[in-house]
Amino acid sequence: MSDLPHSPAADRNKQPIFDALTRILGERGTALEIASGTGQHAAWFAAAMPQWTWQPTDADARMIPALASRVAEAALSNLRAPLLLDVMAPQWPSQGAAFAEEEKFDAIYCANMLHIAPWATCAALMQGAARHLLPGGLLITYGPYFEEEVPPAPSNLAFDEELRARNSAWGIRRLEDVAAEARRAGLALRERHVMPANNLLLVFGF
Ligand SMILES: C[S@@+](CC[C@H](N)C(=O)[O-])C[C@H]1O[C@@H](n2cnc3c(N)ncnc32)[C@H](O)[C@@H]1O
Repeated sequence: MSDLPHSPAADRNKQPIFDALTRILGERGTALEIASGTGQHAAWFAAAMPQWTWQPTDADARMIPALASRVAEAALSNLRAPLLLDVMAPQWPSQGAAFAEEEKFDAIYCANMLHIAPWATCAALMQGAARHLLPGGLLITYGPYFEEEVPPAPSNLAFDEELRARNSAWGIRRLEDVAAEARRAGLALRERHVMPANNLLLVFGF
């Protein structure tokens, strides 16, 4: 068993997320993953979707070596070496050469970042996605959200409190606010999928 950093939640949610992705994504393409963390999703999705090339990234330079080890361990030709990418950086990736103008992505995937990062990352994610998605490309976000018309799950209320106690800039975001940031960047909320454990998977497109 590998001693790489490991998220039990990522192990639990990777299959339901994969099931949703297979319904949403086309047969082949290139995906940019934002906030890959341990890289468990990247390795799982790249293995399960050999026609998709997967580019993992994270903003935390301390995560990159473990992420690189996860990619090496997976040994998949469609899983690229990780890049340092902070959504707030003026160019993506935030270190090294920027993605070439012609290198746009069919999908951008970001799980569990918006509530564990300052609110400004939402606008940055939306604007970056609008810059780096191909026409017809999709931004897919996953995580807990609050919604105007849906009573909040007690577990999400408790999680939100815990997040805000850890960092006052963190917290579960309102879906309506996230969709408004998307609209400001030229993207529209196209699909909302209810996921296990009171999470949502959201799909945005031009
Ligand atoms: C809870 S982890 C989620 C990891 C993985 N996506 C998952 O669902 O298991 C949150 C991740 O967001 C990353 N992150 C935080 N701020 C970021 C930013 N400004 N740009 C990109 N990633 C960021 C952190 O480094 C961390 O790896």
